Order: sequence, then C-alpha cells, then structure tokens
Amino acid sequence: MLCVLFVYFCIAVNDLGGDFMGVGKGSLAADKVVEEIRRKGGRAVANYDSVDAGEKVVKTALDAFGRIDVVINNAGILRDRSFGRISDEDWDIIQRVHLRGSFLVTRAAWDHMKKQKFGRIIMTSSASGIYGNFGQANYCAAKLGLLGLSNCLAVEGEKSNIHCNTIAPTAGSRLTQNILPDDLLEALKPDYVAPLVLWLCHESCEENGGLFEVGAGWIGKLRWERTLGAIVRQRTQPMTPEAVKANWTKICDFDNATKPQRIQDSIGGIIEALNKIDSDGGVSANHTSNVTSTATSGFVTIGHKLPPFSSSYTELDTIMYALGVGASLKEPKDLKFIYEGSSDFSCLPTFGVILAQKSIMGGGLAEIPGLSVNLAKVLLGEQYLELYKPLPRAGKLKCEAIVADVLDKGSGLIMLMDGADE
Ligand SMILES: *[C@@H]1O[C@H](CO)[C@@H](O)[C@H](O)[C@H]1NC(C)=O
Ligand SMILES: *[C@@H]1O[C@H](CO)[C@@H](O)[C@H](O)[C@H]1NC(C)=O
Ligand SMILES: *[C@@H]1O[C@H](CO)[C@@H](O)[C@H](O)[C@H]1NC(C)=O
Ligand SMILES: *[C@@H]1O[C@H](CO)[C@@H](O)[C@H](O)[C@H]1NC(C)=O
Repeated sequence: MLCVLFVYFCIAVNDLGGDFMGVGKGSLAADKVVEEIRRKGGRAVANYDSVDAGEKVVKTALDAFGRIDVVINNAGILRDRSFGRISDEDWDIIQRVHLRGSFLVTRAAWDHMKKQKFGRIIMTSSASGIYGNFGQANYCAAKLGLLGLSNCLAVEGEKSNIHCNTIAPTAGSRLTQNILPDDLLEALKPDYVAPLVLWLCHESCEENGGLFEVGAGWIGKLRWERTLGAIVRQRTQPMTPEAVKANWTKICDFDNATKPQRIQDSIGGIIEALNKIDSDGGVSANHTSNVTSTATSGFVTIGHKLPPFSSSYTELDTIMYALGVGASLKEPKDLKFIYEGSSDFSCLPTFGVILAQKSIMGGGLAEIPGLSVNLAKVLLGEQYLELYKPLPRAGKLKCEAIVADVLDKGSGLIMLMDGADE
C-alpha cells in the first residue's frame, strides 16, 4: 500500500501563515515546511487556503498525488481571555478554525478514504481541553469538541479501515512561542510529537479512537473511568434529590471503577441498573402472580382479543415502506416496489407486519386486563408472517390480534400474539 510513502514523502502542507492569533496571512510558513520535506527527498505541495476551505485543501493533495491516505488536523489559533471577557468573535473564530476546520478538511477526505478502504485521521486536542485551563474557555471547548468528533469518526470509520485518533501535545509552536521560555521550547520540540503521529498513521497501527498526551519524548494514553455508582430510586417510590445526596459518596467512589470503552458499555450499565430496580420491586413476582392468577381473578389474559384495528394505505405508503427497508432506484428489480407507474407495481409482502405492529403498539397491548405493560420496555422479539395472497397495491387492512401465550422469564415475560390481517 502507498500509505507509508505518503506519510513520509507526499504531503500536502496546509498553512495560511497567520500568527498565533490568526492575524495575517502568508505563504512563508507552508513553503518552509514543503522546502524542508523536499530537501530530505520527499514530495510535498503547499496549500495556503484557510481550513474553512476544506475541499480546496484536500483537492491540492488529490491533484498532486491522486489519493489521500492521511489527514492531520492541527490548524490552530488562540484568543485567550478570561471567560467573562470572551467576545462572540473570540468564541466563533476559535470554534471555526479548530473544530469546524477539522470537520471540513476531514469530511472532504472522508469519501476518498471510504472508497479505498483506508484512512488515518489525527485530531489535535489539548491538555487545556481535557483538564481545563484559566483563560481558555473558547479554546478548551473546541479542543474537547475535537475529541468528540474523533470518537464518532472512530466508530463510523472502523469498518472501512479508517482510524481516527486524538493527540494532546505539549510542544513549542507558533501558539506558544510568546509564552514559554526558549530552553523549555527546545525541550518541547515538535520533533518529540511527530513520531507518535507517524505511528498512528501507519497502516499496521490498529489503534482507533485513542487519546494520547505527548510531549518532550513521553507518550501516555487516556481513557474514561466510571464509578460503580449507586441506584437512588426504588421501583415503587419517586426519585428524590435527597436520595441523590444520601448516595453521593457512593456515586463518586472510584473504588472498582469500570472503564467503559464503547457506548454499548455505557448503555449496558444503565440497563443493568434498570433491571436491578425492577427486580428489587418484585416485578417478576407480581407479574407471575398476575399472569397465573388470571383465571381466579376473573381476568382472561391468554385468549384475550385486542380491539380490531384497521388502517388504509396508499401507494405512497407502500413505496415509503419499500424505501425504508432498502429498495433503491439503483436496483432495476426494485423498481416495481418504488415506482407506481411500473406495469407490475407491487406492495412488498412484509408490509403486512406494519399493520400488526400498529395494532399492538397503538394501545392494544396496554389495555390487556390483568397485566400492566409499560410500552417503553416492550421489545419486539421476532415476528412471523404468512401471506395467503399478495397484498393489493393500496387498500384497507384490518388486524385482529389475540394473546396466544404468556411466558414468565423471571425478570420479564414473553407474550405471544396471534394476528390476522385481512
Ligand atoms: C441511596 O438511595 C436509596 C434509594 O432512595 C436509599 O434507599 C438509600 O438509603 C441511599 N443510600 C444511602 C447510602 O443513603
Ligand atoms: C471493590 O472490590 C473489592 C474486592 O472485590 C471489595 O472488597 C470492595 O468492597 C469493592 N468496593 C466497592 C466500593 O464495591
Ligand atoms: C407487588 O407489588 C406491590 C406494589 O404494587 C408490592 O407492594 C409488593 O411487595 C409486590 N410483591 C412482591 C412479591 O414483590
Ligand atoms: C396486577 O394486577 C392487579 C389487578 O389488575 C393490578 O392492580 C396490579 O397493578 C398488577 N401488578 C402488576 C405488577 O402489574
């Protein structure tokens, strides 16, 4: 693959050459870098557009090299002010250059990377964003915004072998030249950051969605940690601020903390808590007794008929359904499901389940005597449809549903519904 060569030798250097405040413009800065790369035997082109023109920056690379493998987003400026004195302009320009600029340049490269099933993207964040720093609220917000952007790109790019990582470098640059003393600047050379970037951009590097602090020759990785937390609600009682206060120490206790890595880990924790709350309240016991006692309590749950439900549909509905499940104009055989002018225009057979679902979720389920079903917690397990004759292209469907069985599964229950559309 071409990538490694690209990283070292073929580089589109984008720098509009402003000072650390983003004031002024010049070609000198980018030219200097290009010259340096060429001197060392590499190929490079310069681009002087602002990152506001993401498409143009990427086009420069595509025109020169025919492809783009790596995007390193590190354009940055500062407008440091204590929070109360940040003007709209100080805020906006920082978001525009750091966050929007990285978005625009990356988006311009994204489809090329997806097509070639390879891409490496670097976002440049900052310790200021991670930990907060006096006088940099605008900058900190943008810098941590980049981490959020990177987190999403890591998830969306994964299956196309596009990896996105974030670095928080401490290095001397035009941003810090007026802040740090010269000897410290020397110890914080960008040379001590670049090797990490090069490794993260290498085709053999599996890292994706990582966050790294780097400076002076040291590199460390960061991750999230979450306390075990506390459940402050009981099933049968309202949740109160007093319970939050009473549980505060436990909520904030990092003993045995977990390290969630994906949103699934996060949601998993919440679902687990929900199950605990429910089972503490004796849901299963109550459900079981409700279900099994239906005969004696006078309720007939099994065999209960939901109120008949009917609904008309037009050709537009059948077309919307077909599009919704993936029919496409690009597939000639799909045309009969999405163009009403087709000679064999048809309704997709599975359209029949829509009516059954409408009937069940449209209140029918909530009104079964002897059971209190919280629709927010109902999950459709599976469905089975048998069609006796093709559905008309438009018309009226009537659904009759009946509770066929109720199975107690301890922490929940399964309900089987039989339905007939006609
Ligand atoms: C936490 O909240 C729960 C639910 O309200 C309460 O029963 C419990 O006493 C609280 N825990 C502590 C340590 O106060
Ligand atoms: C953490 O785990 C240890 C060992 O399993 C246990 O003794 C301790 O109680 C746990 N702490 C918390 C807050 O759960
Ligand atoms: C059933 O629910 C009631 C309140 O709805 C509760 O008081 C009772 O403890 C529950 N039964 C069991 C066995 O948990
Ligand atoms: C059990 O059924 C009774 C009678 O309909 C109802 O009042 C109670 O809320 C039900 N309990 C649950 C947990 O659904």
